[in-house]
Amino acid sequence: MIAYFSATGNTRLVARMIAETTGDTAEYIPDIIASGKKVLESDRPFVIVTPIFAWRIPRYVEDFVRDTEFKGEKGIYFVVTCGGEAARADRYIRRLCGEKGLDLLGIGVVVMPDNYVVFFEPVDRDEAEDIVRKAVPTIDGISSRISRQEPLEYMTRGGLVKSTLVNSMFMRFYTGGRGFRSTERCTGCGSCARMCPVRAITLDDGRPRWSSDCMQCLACLNRCPEQAIEFKGRTVGRRRYVCPFDDPSELRE
Ligand SMILES: Cc1cc2nc3c(=O)[nH]c(=O)nc-3n(C[C@H](O)[C@H](O)[C@H](O)COP(=O)(O)O)c2cc1C
Repeated sequence: MIAYFSATGNTRLVARMIAETTGDTAEYIPDIIASGKKVLESDRPFVIVTPIFAWRIPRYVEDFVRDTEFKGEKGIYFVVTCGGEAARADRYIRRLCGEKGLDLLGIGVVVMPDNYVVFFEPVDRDEAEDIVRKAVPTIDGISSRISRQEPLEYMTRGGLVKSTLVNSMFMRFYTGGRGFRSTERCTGCGSCARMCPVRAITLDDGRPRWSSDCMQCLACLNRCPEQAIEFKGRTVGRRRYVCPFDDPSELRE
């Protein structure tokens, strides 16, 4: 059983590719939570697929694992997608598995296009396609190792300070919904509220408002059909990012 989180499609694509190889189903974590399902059952190792936020897996995904009962199988893989560095995200994954009594079978790292518009101008579509195509052998390698229940080697760059100190600063200054605003381009269509995985956006007088539940996944900002969402002054004039491939078959053509 594969459970994934994704804001702009990279991780969903990876989860679907793994599912294709292993024959598992890939389920979106917000849907699992919304369904009220608290127990996941499988006779093969579980797989959690998640993006990296500030050199750790999102607290949202950690909490999902913490609050879920995993039945049938104790083995679990984590596969993380990132724009370049997962640093020591492994430290917290190991800790979480220890807490849950889960047997961590490996952590795979897949470098995908960076969607963090707050710090970087995202690459254009051609370059994004290129990066994703280059990631395919890594994803295929991870998928077949998971399929054969073999270990995965955690290969990434970046030191502990990023995953500890800098991550705490990210949590303090960037999450919680402060800093987001809609511009005059906003039509009040409400798609931001509908696609927010944690339902942190409500419409107030036809304009979005962000609550403290916001984890800054940037689904709203990257996927707004009018590009009408900005974060502080940092995203103005920058491109937005959405994964150029939706289905694995588009990569196999
Ligand atoms: C809040 C936030 C923080 C991020 N932090 C990192 C990071 O520390 N290292 C990194 O390489 N990429 C980072 N990224 C980039 C994403 O991990 C990467 O683009 C990921 O593949 C996005 O997955 P998605 O398209 O499934 O949402 C960050 C993205 C966001 C939104």
